[in-house]
This record gives sequence, structure tokens and C-alpha cells, in this order.
Amino acid sequence: MALDKPYKNVPGTTIYDAEQARKGYHLNQFAMSLMKPENRVRFLADQAAYLDEWPLNPRQRQAVLDMDMNTMIDEGGNIYFLAKIGATHGMSFQQMAGSMTGMSEAAYRDMMVGGGRRPEGNRLKDLDGWTPPAPGEKADTLRPNAPAKYTSALFTSHVPAIGAAMDLGKTEEPYWKKVFDGYQWTRKWAKEQKPDVVILVYNDHATAFDASIIPTFVLGTGADYPVADEGYGPRPVPGVKGYPELAAHIAQSVIQDDFDLTLVNEMVVDHGLTVPLSLVFGEIGPDEQWPVKVIPLAVNVVQYPVPSGRRCYELGRALRRALDKWDGEELNVQIWGTGGMSHQLQGPRAGLINEEWDNAFLDHLIEDPLGLTEWQHMEYVDEAGSEGIELVDWLIARGAMDDQFGGEAPEMNHRFYHVPASNTAVGHLVLSNPVGKTTIADDEAGVAEPAESVLAPEPAETAAVANA
Ligand code: DHB
Ligand code: FE
Repeated sequence: MALDKPYKNVPGTTIYDAEQARKGYHLNQFAMSLMKPENRVRFLADQAAYLDEWPLNPRQRQAVLDMDMNTMIDEGGNIYFLAKIGATHGMSFQQMAGSMTGMSEAAYRDMMVGGGRRPEGNRLKDLDGWTPPAPGEKADTLRPNAPAKYTSALFTSHVPAIGAAMDLGKTEEPYWKKVFDGYQWTRKWAKEQKPDVVILVYNDHATAFDASIIPTFVLGTGADYPVADEGYGPRPVPGVKGYPELAAHIAQSVIQDDFDLTLVNEMVVDHGLTVPLSLVFGEIGPDEQWPVKVIPLAVNVVQYPVPSGRRCYELGRALRRALDKWDGEELNVQIWGTGGMSHQLQGPRAGLINEEWDNAFLDHLIEDPLGLTEWQHMEYVDEAGSEGIELVDWLIARGAMDDQFGGEAPEMNHRFYHVPASNTAVGHLVLSNPVGKTTIADDEAGVAEPAESVLAPEPAETAAVANA
């Protein structure tokens, strides 16, 4: 079920897609650097020395020195980026385009003056009878035996103070122990499950994105994501490794499925992404590696308008259709939804916690996700607080599960709720699709007893902690 990329066969044409963009990333970024006049001067003074500053492969480097634009395009260059190189050499777009046709500059100009290149014989339809496909059907059923298996969904709050408690060795303090106890089961489970890749849905907190650009849904298609410095210095945890091939595949499928994602090859990741990794995988030092590849999926909840729960759920469904189409290596995939639960970090209502609403949200997420999509945005802000709206992130992971495609309902492996961590109610849930169903043997799981952890905390206990 390879993705439909008929554009690969258009004659004399290289389409710049996520795959090409990845290949040409440094080449295009080098070209962009020539937007600055001082860089153009340095480049023209000593091209080889300037190129030493960019990690180009030998073929890319030689193509730049030779001004061989066909090779640059083949190597992932995009014409609008490469045009900065041409412009630096004083070339017009007509000279650049003509240079790739095998024609002399004069012959190309004369062809254009004469009406341009005719399409006949230069079209896919003329060469192999190809006709445009009818609009694609959206799959409503699962692909049996798909190589990428969505085994489990994991949901968790991502309070930065939780990361700080780990980084500063405070996890045994009574206040924090109550939080970390809720993740003991999960840490053992995660070690057993060994996911290959986590699609980690979170929200950036004015860290990678500022007020200049506000993308609604960001898919990380890069290979590495450094840990952000949010003002306290970067957390002492490893940088995150991406999975560019799978991310490019997801981008291709999800955008063709009518979701306008923003693709980002280079960004830092903040507590929204690193705290869940720490909660699940425990203390891992900056010189070690996280045990999974991560594809970040960031949802804007900073500046309104923000996406609805329904939209997030639908994105989850598109994500599952993408996973089902993957024809690469066998993969154990988890999707995590992070953020929430109820909290408000601003104004006179700061400190808002809504235990009843949070637990109703968890109940519906487990049993009735489609019903949950009816909850309007105002319901989230009013009941869960201005920052509790992060909970829409969770619907993406849930919308992708088997039972939303006619499969079996997920197994509920673990449920935890606790107030507070900093300003926030901590919620945590693990749900598994039939393929990911698991029982951790008691001896292996040590102290963890899922049967107990699935119970919501006694209200009195929660109140006592909240008042402490
Ligand atoms: C807190 C919670 C968050 O989700 C966040 O992004 C920042 C702060 C808090 O409770 O302090
Ligand atoms: Fe947050």
C-alpha cells in the first residue's frame, strides 16, 4: 500500500516533497544564507571556504561550485532556495531555468519568445496514458497486518515542575512521591513494551514558536530535536531523535487526507515533550539516549483560535490511516497525548482544579471518545481552566485507536489522578489496542498492581493533598 506519488513520474520534473526536502535540507539552508548581503560577499570571495561551513554531501558541494542546478535539484534543492545562489551570481530566473534544459541561453530565450515549450509529448498522460485519480476514499476500516502497529495510547500531564523534581532529585519528597507513584506501573510497562517510535502529541509553550508564526498543527519531520532552554537552562536530559522517514510518510498521507499540517525540520522541544518522556522512561542523563524515536506533533493552544476537540480527534483518525499505509519496517508505535488536566496559570482564577470534570473527561475518553468530540471549546476553558484546554491534545491519540475503525475497544491498563503537581491536576492513562494487550507478570512488575491503580483517588485524599 505504497503512498500514491504519481508526481514522481512527471517527465523532466522533480517534485520537492518532504523526502526531497530532507535530502536537500542543508543545501537549501546554505542557499538561504545568501539572503544576507554580507554572506554573499563572503561566498563570492571564496566559495570553497564558505561551503566548508555547511554540511553538504560531496555531490551537493560540487554541484554548487559548478552551478549545476539539475544536480542540485536532484539532491533535494528547491528552485526558490537555489535561486538565491543564482541571484548571487547575477543570474535571472530565465537563465537559471534555461541552464537545466540542455539548451543554450539564446535558444531557450528564443523558445520562450516563440510561445514556450508545448505540453504535448511532455506530459505524463501523453507518455503512459495516466489520468488524474478520483478523490481518494478515506479508510473507515483497519488494514489487517499493517507493518506499523499502533499498540498503545498513553496520556499524561506534562507539568514542568515534575521535570524539575526529577532533575533536582526531589522525587522521594512526600509531595512528589505521590505524583511519581502513579507512574511506577507505567515505567515497568514501558520497559516491557519497547516501542520503536512514539508520536508525541503535545503543545509548545511559546518556546519553539513565538508571536511571529502560530501554526495550528506542527509535525516534526527532522532527525534531531535539541532540548529547549525555557529560561532556567536546558533540562539535563538527552536531545530527542526523530524518525524522518516515517514523519515524511505521515506528512504525505495526512496532508493528502485534507489536514494542513505545518512541517518543521528544525525545532527545540520544551517541557511539554520532555517531561512525559521523563515520567515514562525515568532518569536518563544528557549523555544517554531516550529508548525511542519520537515524532513530535505540536498543537497550538497558546493563541486563539485553537483547534477543537473534534478537529484533534479527526487528525488522530488521519494519523491512523497514515500508519496503516506504511510499508516500511515493522514498527511498534505508540501515540501519546499530553498536557492538562485542569489548570489555570493566569489571572485571579489561577489555581482552578475541577476534579469532577477531569474524571468525566477520562471516563469519556475511555468509553465514548466520539461523544467527547461534542464537547465544545468553551466547555474546556470554563471547566478545566484557560490552560486546561491542552486536553484536546489527548483526542488525537484516542481518535487513532482500533475501535474508531470498527475494531475492538481498547483495554484500560492504568489510570491515575492526583492533585496537585504545581498548579495542575495530574491525569495519566494507558490504553491498549488488541494488538498491544499486555499483562505484566506480578513478579516482573514488582510493586505495581494495575487493578488498584485504575481506581480514581478517594475525593477525601485528593482534597487533603490539595489543601496541604
Ligand atoms: C504548569 C503546568 C503546565 O502544563 C505548564 O505547561 C506549565 C506550568 C504548572 O502547573 O505549573
Ligand atoms: Fe502545559
